[in-house]
Amino acid sequence: MRHIEPKDVEVREVFSYLLGGVVPRPIALVSTLSADGIKNLSPFSFFNAFGANPPMVAFAPSRRGRDGTNKDTYHNLIATKECVVQMVSYDMVEQVSLASTEYDVSIDEFTKSGLTPVASDIVKPPRVAESLFQMECKMQQMIELGNGPSSGNLAICEVVKFHIAEKICDGDRIDPQKIDLVARMGADFYCRASGEAVFEVEKPGLKIGVGYDQIPDVIKESKILSANNLGQLGGIETIPDDDEVEAFRAELCKSKIEPTEFDEYASKDDYKSMLAAALSENESMYEKIEQSVKVALAEKDLDFAWKALLIRTDNS
Ligand SMILES: Cc1cc2nc3c(=O)[nH]c(=O)nc-3n(C[C@H](O)[C@H](O)[C@H](O)COP(=O)(O)O)c2cc1C
Repeated sequence: MRHIEPKDVEVREVFSYLLGGVVPRPIALVSTLSADGIKNLSPFSFFNAFGANPPMVAFAPSRRGRDGTNKDTYHNLIATKECVVQMVSYDMVEQVSLASTEYDVSIDEFTKSGLTPVASDIVKPPRVAESLFQMECKMQQMIELGNGPSSGNLAICEVVKFHIAEKICDGDRIDPQKIDLVARMGADFYCRASGEAVFEVEKPGLKIGVGYDQIPDVIKESKILSANNLGQLGGIETIPDDDEVEAFRAELCKSKIEPTEFDEYASKDDYKSMLAAALSENESMYEKIEQSVKVALAEKDLDFAWKALLIRTDNS
């Protein structure tokens, strides 16, 4: 590990670690108006949402690294206290990057980026028509986090109106595949939050899992189960007892699956038949049980996974 105290290195280096390590960051495409009414559009990835009641977002139009001066967005927010924050989909990322150019305050950045302004309902800055998720905002607070180059200014804004494209909605949820957002990584890297990059991890909610510490060592030492698999196992509320495991084993042993059929069922991700085949085998039974458990966990069948693994510990 590198162990670094920020005071011992250059600001540029600290910045580079933050940009590369605190990722992926969502991108706020922020429209503001200058005191003279010139439209400004700039992306900010030091950004997130911080509560729903009232709905609050914050982003950081920081001081410039080269001379410590403040950016146009900062000045516009101080002058008008209004903005629109819009999310950035993959289809618009190059135009958004163009909007990050340091054009003079007198230049309309909608014109430069080619993105389309549409009137907002409550605030004066226009929205970006191409964005599928737009938030009209009133700034509540600007917190200055330092006064040297690259120090942050945190603009805390209340959302006063949402505009959400109907085509990305699934009830009151936003479909991640349809909104197809991009996020900022370090250097010139971005990532696209759709396709196989998107996966689900069930929330514990009110469920109190037994925890990692309750998993028997023989399971934790598995060469087949991953740390994520063990995390899933720790989420079970009650570990099946001996009677349940015995009933489960007896039921499986009724099926007439031969050990040689294991691979065929594995190719179909049929973890129940995989386990039945594994149980009728002597040589590499434990390994095969764990392989079937891995598939069961991918299918989120936690009950099956635990019962199968407890057959294993019974026998070990
Ligand atoms: C994807 C992306 C994210 C950015 N994030 C930030 C940020 O969080 N804070 C910041 O000060 N500048 C950020 N920048 C740079 C600003 O967008 C850039 O300095 C812009 O010219 C500021 O415009 P303004 O002077 O019109 O406000 C980012 C640029 C890009 C392309």
